[in-house]
Amino acid sequence: MGIRISPSILNSDFSNLERELGKISNADWAHVDVMDNHFVPNLTLGVPVVEAISRVSPIPIDTHLMIADPDRWAPSFVEAGARSVTFHAEAAQAPMRLARELRAMGARAGLAVKPATAIEPYLDILNEFDMILIMTVEPGFGGQSFIETMMPKVERAREAVMKSGLDVWVQVDGGISRSTIEQAARAGADTFVAGSAVYRSPDTHAEIDALRELATKHQH
Ligand code: DX5
Ligand code: ZN
Repeated sequence: MGIRISPSILNSDFSNLERELGKISNADWAHVDVMDNHFVPNLTLGVPVVEAISRVSPIPIDTHLMIADPDRWAPSFVEAGARSVTFHAEAAQAPMRLARELRAMGARAGLAVKPATAIEPYLDILNEFDMILIMTVEPGFGGQSFIETMMPKVERAREAVMKSGLDVWVQVDGGISRSTIEQAARAGADTFVAGSAVYRSPDTHAEIDALRELATKHQH
């Protein structure tokens, strides 16, 4: 099982995103949080900024859409250059149709669930997705505490992926740091978003390597 680190640029310096992306060049993906102040109570960036950063990013862009009506907006993020587009189960009208559309455009399709949303309804249609994102905080802000009680959900998702024989990645997002990544890895996550843990570190590259090493050591 591969381990991937996807630092979130949410807590980076938005006045110089090219430089901030350079700080995570040894990561596997750059996690970009798109918030519309409707699905979540915060507003970040949209298609034009994703287009600009995908032109200068040293690593592929992993967009996390915390927006209403992803059925309408998600495909534009593929056109903007995102290699992975994750939308929320709670917001999508037709998640299967949308995932098929994103894949047909050449992107990886991810399905995200908030902490209080069950993963079970989606485990029968795992073949429709490239990644399942299990939120380990309520979406909306960086720097929140990891919700440990999400680990059984990660375990059930991992079990279902293993049974299916599919290569669906299990991502965790929220409160991931050196002190929490071990339990998420043990539970079965293989793709880790870390925002403040990386950007608050004086040495972002070393922090990414340390997170990858811990996750690899404790992987499911
Ligand atoms: C929260 C975002 C996260 C956030 C993670 O809604 O989806 O990606 O940036 O930040 P940390 O790692 O600080 O919890
Ligand atoms: Zn995110």
